[in-house]
Amino acid sequence: MAMIEVKNLKKSFGSFQVLNGLTLSVKKAETVVILGRSGCGKSVLLKHIIGILRPDAGEVWVNGEKVSHMKEKQLYQAVRNMGMLFQGAALFDSMTVEENTAFYLNQHGHPETGKPLPKSEIRDRVAESLAMVGLENTQKKMPSDLSGGMRKRAGLARLIVYRPTILLYDEPTTGLDPVTAMQINQLIRKTQEELGATSIVVTHDICSALTVSDRLALHADGHIRHIAEKEEFVQSDDPLIRDFFDQAQPAK
Ligand SMILES: Nc1ncnc2c1ncn2[C@@H]1O[C@H](COP(=O)(O)OP(=O)(O)OP(=O)(O)O)[C@@H](O)[C@H]1O
Ligand SMILES: [Mg+2]
Repeated sequence: MAMIEVKNLKKSFGSFQVLNGLTLSVKKAETVVILGRSGCGKSVLLKHIIGILRPDAGEVWVNGEKVSHMKEKQLYQAVRNMGMLFQGAALFDSMTVEENTAFYLNQHGHPETGKPLPKSEIRDRVAESLAMVGLENTQKKMPSDLSGGMRKRAGLARLIVYRPTILLYDEPTTGLDPVTAMQINQLIRKTQEELGATSIVVTHDICSALTVSDRLALHADGHIRHIAEKEEFVQSDDPLIRDFFDQAQPAK
């Protein structure tokens, strides 16, 4: 069954058409990685799936519900099991790491029942999520006290603390050192395996793409130009796909 279904999506900003009939289907418990040149519209696509942007034409379905044309309140219910790691982490600068990480739990309560959670349980869940991303004992720090990579990991902790079953990751490893990047890749896989989560990962990091994906997709010219199982995608002779793999090879 398709968990996320994007049908013929079109979106322009002014006279600039970013999405031009984009279609994508992601199965339950699958991880699809999206590759594409800077500015091709990958972040715009993710924002349509979580409902921050509305399409000019076309539809977005999540778990059998058409979310693209829902009213705010209905949409909020329909995507409550979805979380997004925004490009650049997007922490709240005036909140501590602990307050940032606890944000969704404070806002939405228990992930399944929606009931408010006791403060001590929120504290424990936050500590556990921070430990999962290697940020133990940073609770009292402000985002401005953290390095870029640490901010990124704090953003990830804020996402996974809520245990969403649909995860959208926008550049989860960009700007991280290779060891930390690999830890994040493992975390993405672990989340998928433990929660049976459905994920879309946008990345420029070929190593990450190959580690976390079940299928790979190339986003170009406003649509998904090619999507295939990992083995098949890697061997594709599409010149745009070859560019991605060739630039990732060390120079000879
Ligand atoms: N809210 C907006 N208003 C106007 N233009 C926008 C808006 N959001 C995105 N765009 C434009 O849409 C295009 C696609 O942007 P998007 O952020 O999706 O690119 P991307 O594929 O994520 O690139 P990158 O890999 O650099 O993150 C860009 O030209 C961008 O300037
Ligand atoms: Mg982007």
